[in-house]
Amino acid sequence: MAKKSLPASRLDYDYLLKFLALGNAGVGKTSFLYQYTDGIFHSKFTTTVGIDFREKRVVYRSKTVEGMQGKSQRIHLQLWDTAGQERFRSLTTAFFRDSMGFLLLFDLTNEQSFLSIRGWLEQLKVIILKNSYSLKKILSAKLISYQMTHAYTDNPDIVLCGNKADLDDQREVSEEEVKETASRYGLSYLETSAATGQNVNAAVELLLDKVMLRMDQAVEDAFGTSKRGQTIQLKSYPGDSQGCAC
Ligand code: GTP
Ligand code: MG
Repeated sequence: MAKKSLPASRLDYDYLLKFLALGNAGVGKTSFLYQYTDGIFHSKFTTTVGIDFREKRVVYRSKTVEGMQGKSQRIHLQLWDTAGQERFRSLTTAFFRDSMGFLLLFDLTNEQSFLSIRGWLEQLKVIILKNSYSLKKILSAKLISYQMTHAYTDNPDIVLCGNKADLDDQREVSEEEVKETASRYGLSYLETSAATGQNVNAAVELLLDKVMLRMDQAVEDAFGTSKRGQTIQLKSYPGDSQGCAC
């Protein structure tokens, strides 16, 4: 009798990475994450109450400086979706400290959401600093546990996303204005659309690239090994898990 292949274990991955989407209410965080995990857009999303999350598996492939293909890493991405509404703030900010990378969204058709970026960055940095975002935590993603003495970073990896780029005729924020702000705060910036999918994958991949590179550097600092010069290629992981609403 032919053997049935077992379903891939949910723990069958090399890294568990936690990313978090933040930004004002209605900027499109939930829509963005649905577009990323499921490739669909609902024009009638209800506001997020507190916190939710979605999941996806991808394969991250590094390249060495010589352009050689590095080892594939199976990544299990946990994408935390926070409520933008002020009344949930103390709950949602409690999740900042466990996240390794951040998608900071604003709505290109809503100037106020763009002006709020500074406040979100302040909240992020204060909370990350307070909770010592350590290499130990990053390595725990790979179930390596040992005592570290220096911090992973007090400068979290953030990708700024100007969402609703499809609504060009309603735009209230110019590209130049955002680029100036992004460069002032040292943020990578992409214009995205949860509706059309524009740059949605690219934004998550950019964040993943930053986090994996930083992890590599942290390991290098700790162990003196060198794997610099990474770029990434992503493809969906077979047996990809879909989102999970809680
Ligand atoms: P909170 O959960 O309240 O913080 O809001 P949110 O940031 O999760 O926003 P949500 O995804 O619920 O989107 C708010 C509204 O904007 C919904 O009606 C979406 O359909 C719409 N929307 C989100 N992203 C886009 C986009 O890229 N383009 C267009 N046209 N509409 C979008
Ligand atoms: Mg939401």
